[in-house]
Amino acid sequence: MDKPKFYITTPIYYPSDKLHIGHTYCTVATDTMARYKRLRGYDVMFLTGTDEHGQKIQQKAEAAGVTPQEYVDNIVAGIKELWKMMNISNDRFIRTTDDYHVESVKKIFKKLYEKGDIYKGTYKGKYCSPCESFWTETQLVDGKCPDCGRDVIDAEEEAYFFRLSAYADKLVKYYEEHPDFLLPTSRLNEMVNNFIKPGLEDLCVSRTSFNWGVPVDFDPKHVVYVWVDALSNYITALGYGNDKYDDFEKYWPADVHFVGKEIVRFHTIIWPAMLMALDLPLPKRVFGHGWLLIDGNKMSKSVGNVVDPVILCNRYGTDALRYFLLREFPFGSDGSFTNEALINRINSDLANDLGNLVSRTVAMAEKYFGGTLPEGRAAEALDDELVGMIKGLREKYEREMEAYAFQNALVEIFKVISRSNKYIDETAPWILAKDPEKKDRLATVLYNLLEGIRVCAVLLTPFMPETADKILDQIGASEEGRVYESAGSFGVLAADVTVHRGETLFPRIDVKKELEELEAAEKAAKEQKEEKPKIELEPEIAIDDFTKVELRVAKIVACEKVPKAKKLLKIQLDDGMGGRQIVSGIAQYYEPEDLIGKKIIVVANLKPAKLCGVESSGMLLAGNREDGSVCVTFIDDSVPVGTRLH
Ligand code: ME8
Ligand code: MG
Repeated sequence: MDKPKFYITTPIYYPSDKLHIGHTYCTVATDTMARYKRLRGYDVMFLTGTDEHGQKIQQKAEAAGVTPQEYVDNIVAGIKELWKMMNISNDRFIRTTDDYHVESVKKIFKKLYEKGDIYKGTYKGKYCSPCESFWTETQLVDGKCPDCGRDVIDAEEEAYFFRLSAYADKLVKYYEEHPDFLLPTSRLNEMVNNFIKPGLEDLCVSRTSFNWGVPVDFDPKHVVYVWVDALSNYITALGYGNDKYDDFEKYWPADVHFVGKEIVRFHTIIWPAMLMALDLPLPKRVFGHGWLLIDGNKMSKSVGNVVDPVILCNRYGTDALRYFLLREFPFGSDGSFTNEALINRINSDLANDLGNLVSRTVAMAEKYFGGTLPEGRAAEALDDELVGMIKGLREKYEREMEAYAFQNALVEIFKVISRSNKYIDETAPWILAKDPEKKDRLATVLYNLLEGIRVCAVLLTPFMPETADKILDQIGASEEGRVYESAGSFGVLAADVTVHRGETLFPRIDVKKELEELEAAEKAAKEQKEEKPKIELEPEIAIDDFTKVELRVAKIVACEKVPKAKKLLKIQLDDGMGGRQIVSGIAQYYEPEDLIGKKIIVVANLKPAKLCGVESSGMLLAGNREDGSVCVTFIDDSVPVGTRLH
């Protein structure tokens, strides 16, 4: 019989910078679910990747002086390394810049256009001309451009639209018929009340103001809106619309998309509507998880309150971090991240409860029986509660895991771990060991403990794969004792099992000392990051080389756009020498009237040149801001025109 299928995805991440622990959270959760399903014998497809197109990436690449492709290649390499470090077992990694994906997105767009679900229209909005950006009314900040804070104007441009409005009723009907399409169910009200009920508008799905995207196949001055491009990844990665893969039939529809709560809207409105338009089945489920917060705010690059998973992994190990993320925070809600919570959690659960249980049990088996248990047994009523808990654990665990309640699943496991530690105190093996008559009883106590550890370790495998393996090695579990099946029964370890003592799994941490060291390490890493990259200078020049360059102060007396050259301004200068004209590529960044009267610095003895047919005698000094926009160097009005700078 064919194995049951399970297709699970993470969002594809923006490669705008190094990923933080909030991104890691979502990926670790997805990985744990994928591993759990594999453990249960499913044929799993686990997809993650990167969302690499769009204006922001293009601007960042320009600011960094590299091509957008070079820019993303560099960051994506780092993301892949991070996932390796976090022991992420994705089956596929999709990049939206991959050729096969681009090809598929073109086809999807074209298909929707041919069906009439995409049509050409006019996009009316607010336009910031220095930024060349369209904004909607709601995106404005105090009525101004959210990027640069300047005034915006009413404008229109030709654009393609997706007929989203036509799907409102179908979506609502779908939600009603599939009440657990979106989990936690509480998120559904927000979708219906805030987005669908007020009236779904058609969605603008193409842009012409930048070109870093998938070109519209039949009208290539447009690029496909990044969300249409990005959402399609879930099917293009299976081979929809391309020949790179051919398991679309096998895995689609997805069993679950794990996504952060702020992008639930894209996954439960736009994505299902796109799929309906393509006549494809909808994903079975979308789970909207909560955010990791720092002091009540979402951890995010733009706020600058990010925590680096690499530092934490290096200090505490991958498994400790994975465990913490899924144990500390209920998956559907927000949670506050603190270093203290992390360290306390490692100490209490991993070092004290789990680590101690394993090391005490294995050490006793070695000390009292040379590592191999004798076969004689002497059960007592006292054992029943623990043995009953061990036998019932897998069923409870499974119920929680199937509901994506990672935290509860771990709580169930740790109930058995705590009960086992208590059982050691109750049975006092060190006293039994003194009485040769109690040998069978002592062997029984240790066997019960080892079986409990075994079942817990098997069920912990999806959360802490390496630790679980180490534990199973230490307690001498055979292959049979490591499979999911065996976690549902008691008595799988051989009666004469041999244990192998190993290294301490989780050393106890001195909280106060560690917090100081960790904070210092995080601070040092931040400062290092803030250090400017090494700048390669041109070969040195002598002073008389420099004096060959005449930098002089000039005042802008008139300024106008160069017709037909979008980027150029023609500038008339009072240079103290009878005046001159220069042409400069700053039209996107300055309104002509804002420049008049300003004093600037010009290279006054530069050989004249023609730009778009217009004469330019010299050039002005300017630099790029971090976002790639241009900033002209203005000089204080008190310096007279003609003054030479040196
Ligand atoms: O949204 N806590 O990418 P992204 C928890 N490219 N999760 C967090 C988080 C935090 N503090 N910060 C970010 C995108 N995330 C799109 C997705 S899918 C077709 C396209 C989560 O890199 C966030 O909620 O901004 C989202 O699910 C994921 O990281 C990717 O965010
Ligand atoms: Mg985001």
